[in-house]
Amino acid sequence: MPVSEDFVGSRPWSSYKVDEIEVEGHVISRYIGDFWTSRQRQDKNLHEVPYRACFKPQLPAFFIDALTFPGEVVYDPFAGRGTTPVTASLMNRRVIANDINPLSEVFIKPRLFPPEQADVLFRLSKIPYDFSLRAELDLSMFYDSKTEAEICSLRSYFMWRKKEGLFDYLDAWILMVATTRLSGHSSGFFSVYTLPPNQAVLPSRQVLINEKRHQTPSYRDTKKLIAKKSKQLLSGLSRQEREFLSQSGESAQILGVDARQTSLIDSGSVDLTVTSPPFLNIVSYKTDNWLRCWFCGIDADVVGKQITVTSDLGTWSRVMGEVFLELFRITRSGGFVAFEVGEVRGGEIRLDEVVVPLGIAAGFVCEGIVIHMQEFTKTAHIWGVSNMSGGTNTNRIVVFQKPP
Ligand SMILES: C[S@@+](CC[C@H](N)C(=O)[O-])C[C@H]1O[C@@H](n2cnc3c(N)ncnc32)[C@H](O)[C@@H]1O
Repeated sequence: MPVSEDFVGSRPWSSYKVDEIEVEGHVISRYIGDFWTSRQRQDKNLHEVPYRACFKPQLPAFFIDALTFPGEVVYDPFAGRGTTPVTASLMNRRVIANDINPLSEVFIKPRLFPPEQADVLFRLSKIPYDFSLRAELDLSMFYDSKTEAEICSLRSYFMWRKKEGLFDYLDAWILMVATTRLSGHSSGFFSVYTLPPNQAVLPSRQVLINEKRHQTPSYRDTKKLIAKKSKQLLSGLSRQEREFLSQSGESAQILGVDARQTSLIDSGSVDLTVTSPPFLNIVSYKTDNWLRCWFCGIDADVVGKQITVTSDLGTWSRVMGEVFLELFRITRSGGFVAFEVGEVRGGEIRLDEVVVPLGIAAGFVCEGIVIHMQEFTKTAHIWGVSNMSGGTNTNRIVVFQKPP
């Protein structure tokens, strides 16, 4: 089905068309440009939650701005740390978020209800620390014994609050902040130097890192580090943004199911989906998140089994085809899907071209492939898109519309 002329003319990417490609008999336009680098300075600190394979908030902001009005519903079926729902809430949209990784909810929900820093400090001061506590697993390669006791005290406190039904928005905020501090590559984290915080290494690998760097864990003041990170996340939030966040938090649907089976989402209820699926076998969410899962009382094995990780393009396509059928059901007539995929195996596999027929088969019209390239220059026009596949700051977004 052709896309109407008015419709294409109103898109911010429409003047950036570089070529057309044929995908399984469909002629698809490609648009290339530096669509959102300049927005980066407006970024909110609230987004600074480390998560593997997350996208920058400018990406959802660009599509939310172009394709929705305030009050409309924005959804992400693979929400991860929640870049789409948090961005959408800050822009006064209603949100639905889903991710099969339970850590996702730990990161998303508290940021829709950001507390005042003074309340965080008061609550932190009330959390009891028992310096005799030890973890049931050996964490000595990451933490000195006092730091470990503090982490275990925090963990038992959260479990007790949940068990007693006392776990509130301040606890949820502190749990979220503490989870982001568990391990990392600077003194801002609870651990000795290790990999960046979104990829915890296994204990055996940390032993090797310590040997190589001749390091042993030293004491980290966990409450002080939580307070510091909390202050940073909350800084720069305006009154109005806080209001938008809590308004959208009140009506938000946050789910933790397979993106193919989201029966709790009403048919025709979503105006725009902005998402980035698990890529082909690039990330092991289970291994990356074992420490975070332990701290939050989540079974990492269950997480590992349910998350879609495959290196087989056929399996990936079948799963995503089913996701598109579900997206078609929940999208309103005239609503949109912006589906971001990366370069896989050095550009050898173009997932954007794999995704086009999956969306069309579900009933969507493909509006085109929007390629965001940082430091885009006019030479890209001369060389064409195919020569630009090596770019590291490239995002490929396939845009679909449900026929009005
Ligand atoms: C590329 S990440 C998305 C990151 C997100 N855009 C962000 O900015 O944080 C893909 C996400 O898909 C989730 N996931 C993998 N398989 C899933 C499935 N079958 N259903 C729902 N979520 C799934 C993973 O847990 C991961 O968080």
